[in-house]
Amino acid sequence: MFSKEELVKKALAAREKAYVPYSNFPVGAALITKEGKIFTGCNIENAAFPVTCCAERTALFKAVSEGERSFEALAVVADTDRPVSPCGSCRQVLAEFCPPEMPVYLANLRGEVEIMDVASLLPGAFGAKDLMKG
Ligand code: THU
Repeated sequence: MFSKEELVKKALAAREKAYVPYSNFPVGAALITKEGKIFTGCNIENAAFPVTCCAERTALFKAVSEGERSFEALAVVADTDRPVSPCGSCRQVLAEFCPPEMPVYLANLRGEVEIMDVASLLPGAFGAKDLMKG
């Protein structure tokens, strides 16, 4: 079993790989599967700014592209006053692939960690069920 501290540590290491020439705001993430496999991610920016991929989505997309669909927890870390708050797009992607009760560890460089679950990160999330009619 991986502790929340260990997952945050993996996210911190992933943050070192961030490609952030425009914001200078590196973010790291680490996602653990039900089987205990870890996928890390960093933010990857682009001169065409909206093309940027956040650390959380990098980790999730890496895992999904490797065939993973069962996730246990995600950690994300950045140099913020409060534990970093994932953007709306990442919250939507988390709602797509992760169970509502899955813990998300929001961390910062001061060692503060806030635990939220996927459902509370995006209450009332639009999802697959909304696409089904009748
Ligand atoms: N960013 C993330 O990677 N994750 C977050 O939770 C917040 C924002 C990135 C996107 C962009 O590269 C930079 O941080 C500034 O917004």
